Amino acid sequence: MLNTRLNCAIIDDDPQDARLVARYVDKASSGMWRADCFHTLDSGKAALASAEFDVALVDLHLGPDSGIHLVKEFDRKAGGTPIIMMSGGADVDIEDTALTLGAYDFLSKDSLDARTLRRAVNHVYSAHAIEEALRRSAALAHTSNEAKSSFLACMSHDLRTPLNAIIGFSDAMLMVPEGMVKEEVVREYSGYINQSGKHLLEIINTILDLSKIEQQEFELQREWVDLSELIELQIAVLRPIAEDKHVTLTSMFRHDGELLLADARALRQMLTNLLSNAIKFNRPGKNVQVSTSLTESGLEVRVSDEGAGMTGPEVKLALMPFGQVTNDPTLARQGTGLGLTIVQSLMEQHGGELTLESRKGVGTSARMLFPSSCVSDRIVQASA
Ligand SMILES: Nc1ncnc2c1ncn2[C@@H]1O[C@H](COP(=O)(O)OP(=O)(O)OP(=O)(O)O)[C@@H](O)[C@H]1O
Ligand SMILES: [Mg+2]
Repeated sequence: MLNTRLNCAIIDDDPQDARLVARYVDKASSGMWRADCFHTLDSGKAALASAEFDVALVDLHLGPDSGIHLVKEFDRKAGGTPIIMMSGGADVDIEDTALTLGAYDFLSKDSLDARTLRRAVNHVYSAHAIEEALRRSAALAHTSNEAKSSFLACMSHDLRTPLNAIIGFSDAMLMVPEGMVKEEVVREYSGYINQSGKHLLEIINTILDLSKIEQQEFELQREWVDLSELIELQIAVLRPIAEDKHVTLTSMFRHDGELLLADARALRQMLTNLLSNAIKFNRPGKNVQVSTSLTESGLEVRVSDEGAGMTGPEVKLALMPFGQVTNDPTLARQGTGLGLTIVQSLMEQHGGELTLESRKGVGTSARMLFPSSCVSDRIVQASA
Protein backbone atom coordinates (compact mmCIF):
# COMPACT_ATOMS: atom_id res chain seq x y z
CA MET A 1 0.00 0.00 0.00
CA LEU A 2 3.00 2.25 0.55
CA ASN A 3 3.39 2.65 -3.18
CA THR A 4 -0.25 3.61 -3.53
CA ARG A 5 -1.15 7.28 -3.37
CA LEU A 6 -3.97 7.66 -0.85
CA ASN A 7 -6.02 10.70 0.11
CA CYS A 8 -6.74 10.80 3.84
CA ALA A 9 -9.32 13.10 5.42
CA ILE A 10 -8.52 14.02 9.03
CA ILE A 11 -11.66 15.25 10.76
CA ASP A 12 -10.78 16.61 14.20
CA ASP A 13 -12.04 19.76 15.94
CA ASP A 14 -8.66 20.31 17.61
CA PRO A 15 -6.33 21.83 14.96
CA GLN A 16 -3.23 20.82 16.92
CA ASP A 17 -4.33 17.14 17.12
CA ALA A 18 -5.26 17.22 13.44
CA ARG A 19 -1.79 18.54 12.51
CA LEU A 20 -0.15 15.81 14.60
CA VAL A 21 -2.18 13.06 12.91
CA ALA A 22 -1.34 14.62 9.51
CA ARG A 23 2.35 14.39 10.40
CA TYR A 24 1.94 10.69 11.30
CA VAL A 25 0.19 10.12 7.96
CA ASP A 26 3.10 11.72 6.16
CA LYS A 27 5.71 9.80 8.15
CA ALA A 28 3.83 6.49 7.88
CA SER A 29 3.82 6.66 4.09
CA SER A 30 7.12 8.49 3.52
CA GLY A 31 5.12 11.27 1.88
CA MET A 32 3.01 9.01 -0.40
CA TRP A 33 -0.29 9.68 1.37
CA ARG A 34 -1.90 13.11 1.31
CA ALA A 35 -3.76 14.42 4.36
CA ASP A 36 -6.41 17.18 4.38
CA CYS A 37 -7.77 18.44 7.69
CA PHE A 38 -11.38 19.40 8.52
CA HIS A 39 -12.44 20.76 11.91
CA THR A 40 -16.24 20.52 12.04
CA LEU A 41 -18.87 17.87 11.50
CA ASP A 42 -20.29 19.76 8.50
CA SER A 43 -16.97 20.30 6.73
CA GLY A 44 -16.15 16.62 7.41
CA LYS A 45 -19.48 15.55 5.92
CA ALA A 46 -18.87 17.64 2.81
CA ALA A 47 -15.39 16.13 2.44
CA LEU A 48 -16.68 12.55 2.67
CA ALA A 49 -19.62 13.32 0.36
CA SER A 50 -17.14 14.47 -2.29
CA ALA A 51 -15.87 10.85 -2.45
CA GLU A 52 -12.35 12.20 -2.97
CA PHE A 53 -10.93 10.42 0.05
CA ASP A 54 -9.76 6.83 0.38
CA VAL A 55 -9.75 6.79 4.17
CA ALA A 56 -11.09 9.13 6.88
CA LEU A 57 -9.61 9.50 10.37
CA VAL A 58 -12.43 10.89 12.49
CA ASP A 59 -12.24 12.20 16.04
CA LEU A 60 -14.97 10.95 18.36
CA HIS A 61 -15.68 14.46 19.69
CA LEU A 62 -16.23 17.15 17.10
CA GLY A 63 -17.08 20.15 19.30
CA PRO A 64 -20.72 19.70 20.32
CA ASP A 65 -21.14 16.86 17.79
CA SER A 66 -20.07 13.24 17.71
CA GLY A 67 -17.94 11.71 14.96
CA ILE A 68 -20.24 8.67 15.20
CA HIS A 69 -22.72 10.65 13.01
CA LEU A 70 -20.31 10.27 10.12
CA VAL A 71 -20.07 6.51 10.62
CA LYS A 72 -23.85 6.29 10.51
CA GLU A 73 -24.24 8.60 7.52
CA PHE A 74 -21.50 7.11 5.34
CA ASP A 75 -22.81 3.59 5.69
CA ARG A 76 -20.16 0.90 5.35
CA LYS A 77 -22.69 -1.47 3.76
CA ALA A 78 -23.36 1.07 0.99
CA GLY A 79 -19.65 1.53 0.27
CA GLY A 80 -19.10 4.93 1.93
CA THR A 81 -15.55 6.21 2.60
CA PRO A 82 -14.01 3.87 5.20
CA ILE A 83 -13.70 5.53 8.60
CA ILE A 84 -11.16 5.00 11.40
CA MET A 85 -12.40 6.55 14.63
CA MET A 86 -9.95 8.20 17.03
CA SER A 87 -10.42 9.28 20.60
CA GLY A 88 -8.38 10.91 23.33
CA GLY A 89 -9.46 8.66 26.17
CA ALA A 90 -10.35 4.99 26.22
CA ASP A 91 -14.03 4.06 26.40
CA VAL A 92 -14.69 0.43 25.51
CA ASP A 93 -18.47 0.91 25.11
CA ILE A 94 -18.10 3.77 22.63
CA GLU A 95 -15.42 1.83 20.80
CA ASP A 96 -17.78 -1.16 20.48
CA THR A 97 -20.63 1.06 19.32
CA ALA A 98 -18.46 2.71 16.65
CA LEU A 99 -17.20 -0.63 15.35
CA THR A 100 -20.70 -2.16 15.37
CA LEU A 101 -22.03 0.78 13.39
CA GLY A 102 -19.39 0.29 10.72
CA ALA A 103 -16.16 2.07 11.72
CA TYR A 104 -13.24 0.03 10.37
CA ASP A 105 -10.98 0.62 13.37
CA PHE A 106 -10.71 2.62 16.59
CA LEU A 107 -7.40 4.23 17.57
CA SER A 108 -6.39 5.93 20.78
CA LYS A 109 -4.80 9.31 20.09
CA ASP A 110 -2.82 8.91 23.35
CA SER A 111 -0.79 6.00 22.01
CA LEU A 112 -0.87 6.91 18.32
CA ASP A 113 2.35 6.75 16.30
CA ALA A 114 3.26 6.48 12.62
CA ARG A 115 3.61 2.68 12.72
CA THR A 116 0.18 2.07 14.30
CA LEU A 117 -1.39 4.47 11.86
CA ARG A 118 0.27 2.81 8.86
CA ARG A 119 -0.94 -0.64 9.93
CA ALA A 120 -4.49 0.60 10.51
CA VAL A 121 -4.72 2.49 7.17
CA ASN A 122 -3.29 -0.46 5.22
CA HIS A 123 -5.73 -2.84 6.85
CA VAL A 124 -8.72 -0.56 6.25
CA TYR A 125 -7.75 0.04 2.62
CA SER A 126 -7.53 -3.71 1.90
CA ALA A 127 -10.73 -4.56 3.78
CA HIS A 128 -12.59 -1.80 1.91
CA ALA A 129 -11.28 -3.05 -1.46
CA ILE A 130 -12.50 -6.60 -0.68
CA GLU A 131 -15.92 -5.29 0.38
CA GLU A 132 -16.14 -3.24 -2.83
CA ALA A 133 -15.38 -6.34 -4.94
CA LEU A 134 -18.06 -8.30 -3.06
CA ARG A 135 -20.58 -5.49 -3.54
CA ARG A 136 -19.85 -5.38 -7.28
CA SER A 137 -20.30 -9.12 -7.75
CA ALA A 138 -23.52 -9.08 -5.70
CA ALA A 139 -24.83 -6.25 -7.92
CA LEU A 140 -23.85 -8.19 -11.05
CA ALA A 141 -25.60 -11.32 -9.76
CA HIS A 142 -28.70 -9.21 -9.07
CA THR A 143 -28.69 -7.77 -12.61
CA SER A 144 -28.23 -11.20 -14.20
CA ASN A 145 -31.04 -12.55 -12.09
CA GLU A 146 -33.32 -9.73 -13.21
CA ALA A 147 -32.37 -10.34 -16.85
CA LYS A 148 -33.20 -14.03 -16.39
CA SER A 149 -36.57 -13.21 -14.81
CA SER A 150 -37.54 -10.82 -17.60
CA PHE A 151 -36.41 -13.40 -20.18
CA LEU A 152 -38.65 -16.03 -18.53
CA ALA A 153 -41.57 -13.59 -18.33
CA CYS A 154 -41.26 -12.80 -22.06
CA MET A 155 -40.79 -16.46 -22.87
CA SER A 156 -43.95 -17.56 -21.10
CA HIS A 157 -45.90 -14.82 -22.90
CA ASP A 158 -44.57 -15.94 -26.26
CA LEU A 159 -45.31 -19.60 -25.58
CA ARG A 160 -48.84 -18.84 -24.40
CA THR A 161 -49.86 -16.92 -27.53
CA PRO A 162 -49.71 -19.83 -30.01
CA LEU A 163 -50.90 -22.29 -27.35
CA ASN A 164 -54.02 -20.18 -26.77
CA ALA A 165 -54.68 -20.18 -30.51
CA ILE A 166 -54.33 -23.98 -30.64
CA ILE A 167 -56.69 -24.46 -27.69
CA GLY A 168 -59.15 -21.77 -28.89
CA PHE A 169 -59.56 -23.11 -32.43
CA SER A 170 -59.73 -26.76 -31.36
CA ASP A 171 -62.33 -25.88 -28.68
CA ALA A 172 -64.39 -24.09 -31.31
CA MET A 173 -64.34 -27.19 -33.52
CA LEU A 174 -65.22 -29.49 -30.62
CA MET A 175 -68.21 -27.35 -29.66
CA VAL A 176 -69.91 -27.66 -33.07
CA PRO A 177 -72.67 -30.30 -32.75
CA GLU A 178 -72.17 -33.52 -34.66
CA GLY A 179 -73.41 -33.35 -38.22
CA MET A 180 -73.07 -29.53 -38.32
CA VAL A 181 -69.34 -29.51 -38.99
CA LYS A 182 -68.55 -27.58 -42.15
CA GLU A 183 -65.58 -28.82 -44.08
CA GLU A 184 -64.26 -25.37 -45.01
CA VAL A 185 -64.35 -24.28 -41.34
CA VAL A 186 -62.48 -27.44 -40.29
CA ARG A 187 -59.90 -26.72 -42.97
CA GLU A 188 -59.53 -23.09 -41.94
CA TYR A 189 -59.26 -23.84 -38.19
CA SER A 190 -56.90 -26.80 -38.65
CA GLY A 191 -54.75 -24.45 -40.75
CA TYR A 192 -54.52 -22.02 -37.79
CA ILE A 193 -53.80 -24.86 -35.37
CA ASN A 194 -51.10 -26.22 -37.68
CA GLN A 195 -49.53 -22.75 -38.09
CA SER A 196 -49.54 -22.13 -34.33
CA GLY A 197 -48.05 -25.56 -33.64
CA LYS A 198 -45.23 -24.91 -36.10
CA HIS A 199 -44.66 -21.47 -34.60
CA LEU A 200 -44.46 -23.01 -31.13
CA LEU A 201 -41.94 -25.59 -32.32
CA GLU A 202 -39.89 -22.82 -33.93
CA ILE A 203 -39.88 -20.83 -30.67
CA ILE A 204 -38.80 -23.85 -28.65
CA ASN A 205 -36.05 -24.76 -31.11
CA THR A 206 -34.76 -21.18 -31.12
CA ILE A 207 -34.79 -21.03 -27.31
CA LEU A 208 -32.82 -24.27 -27.20
CA ASP A 209 -30.30 -22.88 -29.72
CA LEU A 210 -29.98 -19.67 -27.74
CA SER A 211 -29.48 -21.45 -24.44
CA LYS A 212 -26.75 -23.59 -26.01
CA ILE A 213 -25.06 -20.49 -27.38
CA GLU A 214 -25.28 -18.66 -24.06
CA GLN A 215 -24.00 -21.60 -22.04
CA GLN A 216 -21.04 -21.71 -24.40
CA GLU A 217 -22.02 -25.26 -25.40
CA PHE A 218 -21.99 -24.00 -28.93
CA GLU A 219 -18.24 -24.18 -29.21
CA LEU A 220 -16.89 -22.04 -32.00
CA GLN A 221 -14.98 -24.01 -34.63
CA ARG A 222 -12.85 -21.17 -35.92
CA GLU A 223 -11.29 -21.39 -39.35
CA TRP A 224 -10.09 -18.95 -41.99
CA VAL A 225 -13.19 -18.13 -43.99
CA ASP A 226 -13.41 -16.53 -47.42
CA LEU A 227 -16.08 -13.99 -46.49
CA SER A 228 -17.08 -12.94 -50.03
CA GLU A 229 -17.69 -16.56 -51.02
CA LEU A 230 -19.74 -17.27 -47.88
CA ILE A 231 -21.85 -14.12 -48.32
CA GLU A 232 -22.57 -14.86 -52.01
CA LEU A 233 -23.65 -18.40 -51.09
CA GLN A 234 -25.96 -17.16 -48.36
CA ILE A 235 -27.47 -14.56 -50.68
CA ALA A 236 -28.15 -17.32 -53.23
CA VAL A 237 -29.91 -19.40 -50.54
CA LEU A 238 -32.20 -16.51 -49.53
CA ARG A 239 -32.82 -15.12 -53.04
CA PRO A 240 -36.06 -17.11 -53.62
CA ILE A 241 -37.56 -15.69 -50.40
CA ALA A 242 -36.50 -12.18 -51.43
CA GLU A 243 -37.97 -12.65 -54.90
CA ASP A 244 -41.30 -13.65 -53.37
CA LYS A 245 -41.30 -10.25 -51.66
CA HIS A 246 -40.02 -8.47 -54.78
CA VAL A 247 -36.88 -7.47 -52.94
CA THR A 248 -33.49 -7.52 -54.66
CA LEU A 249 -30.32 -8.73 -52.95
CA THR A 250 -26.94 -7.23 -53.80
CA SER A 251 -23.42 -7.30 -52.38
CA MET A 252 -20.53 -4.87 -52.25
CA PHE A 253 -17.15 -6.03 -50.96
CA ARG A 254 -14.76 -3.31 -49.82
CA HIS A 255 -12.34 -5.57 -47.96
CA ASP A 256 -9.31 -6.60 -49.86
CA GLY A 257 -9.49 -10.37 -49.97
CA GLU A 258 -8.53 -10.77 -46.31
CA LEU A 259 -9.80 -13.94 -44.66
CA LEU A 260 -11.87 -13.91 -41.50
CA LEU A 261 -11.08 -16.17 -38.53
CA ALA A 262 -14.59 -17.26 -37.58
CA ASP A 263 -16.96 -20.16 -37.17
CA ALA A 264 -18.47 -20.62 -40.65
CA ARG A 265 -21.68 -22.19 -39.30
CA ALA A 266 -22.19 -19.26 -36.91
CA LEU A 267 -21.43 -16.80 -39.72
CA ARG A 268 -24.07 -18.41 -41.94
CA GLN A 269 -26.58 -18.32 -39.09
CA MET A 270 -25.88 -14.62 -38.35
CA LEU A 271 -26.14 -13.65 -42.02
CA THR A 272 -29.37 -15.61 -42.39
CA ASN A 273 -30.90 -13.90 -39.35
CA LEU A 274 -29.95 -10.40 -40.53
CA LEU A 275 -30.83 -11.03 -44.18
CA SER A 276 -34.19 -12.54 -43.29
CA ASN A 277 -35.01 -9.46 -41.20
CA ALA A 278 -33.89 -7.12 -43.98
CA ILE A 279 -36.10 -8.99 -46.47
CA LYS A 280 -39.06 -9.45 -44.11
CA PHE A 281 -39.22 -5.79 -43.03
CA ASN A 282 -38.43 -4.32 -46.47
CA ARG A 283 -40.84 -2.87 -48.98
CA PRO A 284 -41.57 -4.43 -52.38
CA GLY A 285 -39.33 -3.07 -55.11
CA LYS A 286 -36.58 -2.14 -52.65
CA ASN A 287 -33.07 -3.47 -52.18
CA VAL A 288 -31.08 -5.26 -49.49
CA GLN A 289 -27.32 -4.93 -49.63
CA VAL A 290 -24.64 -6.93 -47.85
CA SER A 291 -21.41 -4.94 -47.74
CA THR A 292 -18.01 -5.38 -46.15
CA SER A 293 -15.28 -2.91 -45.24
CA LEU A 294 -12.08 -2.73 -43.25
CA THR A 295 -11.93 -0.13 -40.49
CA GLU A 296 -9.40 0.68 -37.79
CA SER A 297 -11.37 -1.48 -35.36
CA GLY A 298 -11.63 -4.53 -37.61
CA LEU A 299 -13.79 -5.95 -40.37
CA GLU A 300 -17.37 -4.77 -40.76
CA VAL A 301 -20.16 -6.71 -42.41
CA ARG A 302 -23.33 -4.69 -42.95
CA VAL A 303 -26.78 -5.81 -43.99
CA SER A 304 -28.73 -2.72 -45.06
CA ASP A 305 -32.33 -2.40 -46.19
CA GLU A 306 -34.74 0.31 -47.31
CA GLY A 307 -37.63 -0.90 -45.18
CA ALA A 308 -39.78 0.35 -42.31
CA GLY A 309 -36.83 1.40 -40.12
CA MET A 310 -37.05 1.95 -36.36
CA THR A 311 -36.81 4.78 -33.83
CA GLY A 312 -34.05 4.69 -31.15
CA PRO A 313 -36.30 3.12 -28.46
CA GLU A 314 -37.60 0.62 -31.03
CA VAL A 315 -34.02 -0.45 -31.81
CA LYS A 316 -33.46 -1.08 -28.09
CA LEU A 317 -36.60 -3.20 -27.95
CA ALA A 318 -35.64 -5.10 -31.12
CA LEU A 319 -32.33 -6.10 -29.54
CA MET A 320 -34.01 -7.55 -26.44
CA PRO A 321 -34.91 -11.25 -26.32
CA PHE A 322 -38.42 -11.66 -27.81
CA GLY A 323 -38.50 -7.92 -28.59
CA GLN A 324 -40.69 -7.29 -31.65
CA VAL A 325 -41.43 -3.81 -32.95
CA THR A 326 -43.69 -4.42 -35.89
CA ASN A 327 -47.43 -3.63 -35.63
CA ASP A 328 -48.12 -6.10 -38.37
CA PRO A 329 -49.31 -9.31 -36.63
CA THR A 330 -48.60 -11.40 -39.74
CA LEU A 331 -44.98 -10.28 -39.76
CA ALA A 332 -44.66 -10.74 -35.98
CA ARG A 333 -45.99 -14.29 -36.29
CA GLN A 334 -43.27 -15.01 -38.84
CA GLY A 335 -40.66 -14.84 -36.10
CA THR A 336 -39.89 -15.40 -32.45
CA GLY A 337 -38.08 -12.14 -31.70
CA LEU A 338 -34.88 -14.03 -30.92
CA GLY A 339 -33.02 -13.66 -34.24
CA LEU A 340 -31.08 -10.54 -33.23
CA THR A 341 -30.39 -11.90 -29.72
CA ILE A 342 -28.71 -14.91 -31.31
CA VAL A 343 -26.60 -12.69 -33.59
CA GLN A 344 -25.58 -10.58 -30.56
CA SER A 345 -24.53 -13.66 -28.58
CA LEU A 346 -22.57 -15.16 -31.47
CA MET A 347 -20.82 -11.85 -32.19
CA GLU A 348 -19.81 -11.56 -28.53
CA GLN A 349 -18.31 -15.04 -28.72
CA HIS A 350 -16.25 -13.87 -31.69
CA GLY A 351 -15.03 -10.92 -29.60
CA GLY A 352 -17.01 -8.57 -31.81
CA GLU A 353 -20.32 -6.73 -31.63
CA LEU A 354 -23.63 -6.18 -33.37
CA THR A 355 -25.02 -2.66 -33.71
CA LEU A 356 -28.19 -1.49 -35.41
CA GLU A 357 -28.42 1.88 -37.16
CA SER A 358 -31.95 2.67 -38.20
CA ARG A 359 -34.13 5.57 -39.33
CA LYS A 360 -37.90 5.31 -39.23
CA GLY A 361 -39.30 5.15 -42.76
CA VAL A 362 -35.83 5.14 -44.32
CA GLY A 363 -34.26 1.78 -43.49
CA THR A 364 -31.99 -0.19 -41.22
CA SER A 365 -28.35 -1.17 -41.33
CA ALA A 366 -27.21 -4.02 -39.08
CA ARG A 367 -23.46 -3.94 -38.54
CA MET A 368 -21.37 -6.89 -37.38
CA LEU A 369 -17.90 -5.76 -36.37
CA PHE A 370 -15.20 -8.44 -36.09
CA PRO A 371 -12.07 -7.37 -34.19
CA SER A 372 -8.79 -6.93 -36.10
CA SER A 373 -7.46 -10.09 -34.38
CA CYS A 374 -9.94 -12.10 -36.54
CA VAL A 375 -8.69 -10.61 -39.82
CA SER A 376 -5.85 -12.13 -41.81
CA ASP A 377 -3.13 -10.09 -43.42
CA ARG A 378 -3.93 -10.49 -47.11
CA ILE A 379 -0.27 -10.38 -48.22
CA VAL A 380 0.83 -13.01 -45.67
CA GLN A 381 -2.08 -15.27 -46.61
CA ALA A 382 -1.41 -14.87 -50.31
CA SER A 383 2.25 -15.82 -49.97
CA ALA A 384 1.61 -18.62 -47.42
N1 LIG B 1 -34.24 -4.72 -40.69
C1 LIG B 1 -35.26 -4.43 -39.87
N2 LIG B 1 -36.14 -3.45 -40.18
C2 LIG B 1 -37.16 -3.14 -39.35
N3 LIG B 1 -37.42 -3.78 -38.19
C3 LIG B 1 -36.58 -4.77 -37.84
C4 LIG B 1 -35.45 -5.14 -38.64
N4 LIG B 1 -34.79 -6.15 -38.02
C5 LIG B 1 -35.47 -6.38 -36.90
N5 LIG B 1 -36.54 -5.58 -36.79
C6 LIG B 1 -37.49 -5.54 -35.65
O1 LIG B 1 -36.89 -6.17 -34.55
C7 LIG B 1 -37.67 -7.30 -34.12
C8 LIG B 1 -36.74 -8.36 -33.59
O2 LIG B 1 -35.98 -8.95 -34.64
P1 LIG B 1 -35.49 -10.44 -34.47
O3 LIG B 1 -34.75 -10.82 -35.69
O4 LIG B 1 -34.80 -10.56 -33.16
O5 LIG B 1 -36.85 -11.25 -34.34
P2 LIG B 1 -37.91 -11.63 -35.45
O6 LIG B 1 -37.40 -11.33 -36.82
O7 LIG B 1 -39.22 -11.03 -35.06
O8 LIG B 1 -38.02 -13.19 -35.23
P3 LIG B 1 -36.89 -14.32 -35.54
O9 LIG B 1 -36.63 -14.91 -34.19
O10 LIG B 1 -37.51 -15.26 -36.47
O11 LIG B 1 -35.70 -13.62 -36.10
C9 LIG B 1 -38.46 -7.69 -35.34
O12 LIG B 1 -39.65 -8.38 -34.98
C10 LIG B 1 -38.76 -6.34 -35.97
O13 LIG B 1 -39.84 -5.73 -35.32
MG1 LIG C 1 -35.46 -12.05 -37.29
